[in-house]
Amino acid sequence: MANAWFETVAIAQKRAKKYLPPSVYGALVAGSEKGVTIEANQDAFAQIGFAPHVAGHKPHRELSTEVMGIPISMPVLISPTGVQAVHPEGEVAVARAAANRGTIMGLSSFASKPIDEVTEANENTLFQIYWCGTKDQILQRLERAKRAGAKGIIATLDWSFSNGRDWGSPWIPERLDLKTAAKFAPQAVTRPKWLYTFLKTGRVPDLTAPNLQAPGGEAPTFFGAYGEWMGTPPPTWEDVAWLREQWDGPFMLKGVTRIDDAKRAVDAGVTAISVSNHGGNNLDTTPATIRVLPGIAEAVGDEIEVLLDGGIRRGSDVAKALSLGAKAVMIGRAYLWGLAANGQAGVENVLDILRGGLDSAVLGQGKSSIHELSPEDLVVPEGFFLRLGDPGKLSGAVVDSKNSSSRTAADTNAAANGRVPVPKPAPASAASRS
Ligand SMILES: Cc1cc2nc3c(=O)[nH]c(=O)nc-3n(C[C@H](O)[C@H](O)[C@H](O)COP(=O)(O)O)c2cc1C
Repeated sequence: MANAWFETVAIAQKRAKKYLPPSVYGALVAGSEKGVTIEANQDAFAQIGFAPHVAGHKPHRELSTEVMGIPISMPVLISPTGVQAVHPEGEVAVARAAANRGTIMGLSSFASKPIDEVTEANENTLFQIYWCGTKDQILQRLERAKRAGAKGIIATLDWSFSNGRDWGSPWIPERLDLKTAAKFAPQAVTRPKWLYTFLKTGRVPDLTAPNLQAPGGEAPTFFGAYGEWMGTPPPTWEDVAWLREQWDGPFMLKGVTRIDDAKRAVDAGVTAISVSNHGGNNLDTTPATIRVLPGIAEAVGDEIEVLLDGGIRRGSDVAKALSLGAKAVMIGRAYLWGLAANGQAGVENVLDILRGGLDSAVLGQGKSSIHELSPEDLVVPEGFFLRLGDPGKLSGAVVDSKNSSSRTAADTNAAANGRVPVPKPAPASAASRS
């Protein structure tokens, strides 16, 4: 049997493409419209360089940290995604892998597995909710998450109803019954290994969202839930503050890309934000998250924890995000590729790749801890950073960091060394105050 281990996330993605039926693979790639943002998220990391030392490296490197009061062995969390048709064990396999590697599981509202099974697999589970349905329904879901032992909430509020894709959206049935299975069959038979993993369990992919089930009711279908979400009037900032008050524990707001929104999130009382564009599924042409991170971290990083997601495929990407002010990162497609390629072991494989790459980056920079990483360790192209929604700037939403008033002596030195100054991120200790 071929070796199931893979050495990079790119290889896991190739295997996922080969293994999954095209429509399932297509649903994971997703992205909206032209796919500019999904590409930009990854390209932006490739544009940032390192300037590694040749000697004086530290023999031991500290990679552990704490997010939303939960100690974790590495600054990489599982971002919530609905993974219905990738693998029969779905989110439970992902949760186990995250637990085995000492990190946090983010469970989507649209997940295929009930939250109780997931918290049993990983006690450090954060439950993700959308602003979907009535306030009573939202309260029921929070209540259920609490009973199941979720340690915190991720409220994903960015608008992610993509308006079609230039490469065509995959066909996914509302339910997998005999009729739709027959329509799906030509795709499925071209992927016999995928089909076999499901057939072994005696089940077809369950396209329902059990965590949105009303007490005594039936689990809605994925598309039924999606329709309800789209039909719910969008939340106001007062609604965000209300939502936050309903959970007496750590609370993350996911989807922030602007400084003004980050400040309003602080006012609403959140514990953490994730700088995120939903992995390129929000408005296409929204800039890469890493380009807006430093301005946001500078503005609110001493009051709340600032995380980032979008485009993380390597441990060096994690190091870059941390150097620019993120406390930790969240991954989406990277673990989905791992799950498709090799189930739970594939997700562990991805987390190991990220850990190894992060450790190498910390070593190369001559640091003994992720908490020592700083922007001055990076080589960044001119005009790379963007400050969106900075109320201090009159010229509109976007201001080049060259014009930032937050320049320090270190920035000036960096500029003199041919590197571009970046906004100063909050010190790691300050970020953990909340
Ligand atoms: C297939 C897919 C499904 C997703 N589903 C959700 C979801 O249900 N809830 C959510 O908050 N984010 C969802 N996301 C966004 C991810 O949590 C995360 O923000 C994004 O994947 C990060 O970008 P990356 O895939 O480049 O790592 C989804 C992303 C993908 C690719």
